[in-house]
Amino acid sequence: MPSQLDALKQHSTVVADTGDIDAIARWRPQDATTNPSLLLAAAQDARFRHLIDADSDRMVVNFGCEILGHIAGRVSTEVDARLSFDTDATAAKARRLIELYAASGISRERVLIKIASTWEGIRAAAQLEREGIHCNLTLLFSFAQAVACADAGVTLISPFVGRIYDWHRAARKVDDIAVADDPGVASVARIYHYYKKFGYATQVMGASFRKTGQILALAGCDLLTIAPDLLGQLAGADGEVPRRLSPADAATQRIERVPLDEAAFRWQHNDDAMATEKLADGIRRFDADARKLEQLVAALASAKRAAA
Ligand code: E4P
Repeated sequence: MPSQLDALKQHSTVVADTGDIDAIARWRPQDATTNPSLLLAAAQDARFRHLIDADSDRMVVNFGCEILGHIAGRVSTEVDARLSFDTDATAAKARRLIELYAASGISRERVLIKIASTWEGIRAAAQLEREGIHCNLTLLFSFAQAVACADAGVTLISPFVGRIYDWHRAARKVDDIAVADDPGVASVARIYHYYKKFGYATQVMGASFRKTGQILALAGCDLLTIAPDLLGQLAGADGEVPRRLSPADAATQRIERVPLDEAAFRWQHNDDAMATEKLADGIRRFDADARKLEQLVAALASAKRAAA
């Protein structure tokens, strides 16, 4: 009997959600995703000190290049969260990251520039995609964000499951929500059905998982990015994994296309209290961890000077 991980790979592309290069080497996923919090955790690990650089753009690219040495596919590298409301600055940062990758011999086909799914971030992604720079729109919690990303022609979105689950668990004051009733799982399924029914090319990558049941409930999603501990649980469990999402099922959904301009995007996203709070919170958290990473890099440089 195959492991659940092997069975899942029959339906979805499995991606590693980590900055831990040893874990990526162990799991050998197709793609890998990083974010400022994951890179902060990795940078604190002495094994990855050689990737630290005072230039934060070079450092994230160093991590990306190292990760690419262990996978056949793409790495996602996030732009600075401070640029989340500035279209031009986000696009400029993405171009610099792609230039740094190119200088290291990495083609843009192997990189996804990760951008928060604000209106401004989605506009930057639309421009970048026209230039041939592929984007992964992250911190995606609302259906409005998903529709705007598809309309913008982005390569891939990362709708979050776990943070939606966290919000509803706190709101309902419960320890757990069953997978069948999980609003995070339902959010990804709804987006997947919409994209497939209306023929959008944007790939859906479920992200931010808290338990394997959430992952298995989305078997068939284009991609699933999974943290090493959950990859380990899936690898350690035997069992069939039935496909839950498919273009054929999407075609039977009774859903309508949603027209969305900026005002409608802002209204519909704002109308979703969970998504509004989680997007803002996610940007604050990624920014806080990026600043902690800068402090860590400065402290390491100063210790090195003192030791010299
Ligand atoms: C990946 O793209 C996301 O950044 C990641 O899955 C977020 O996970 P978390 O909600 O556990 O931080």
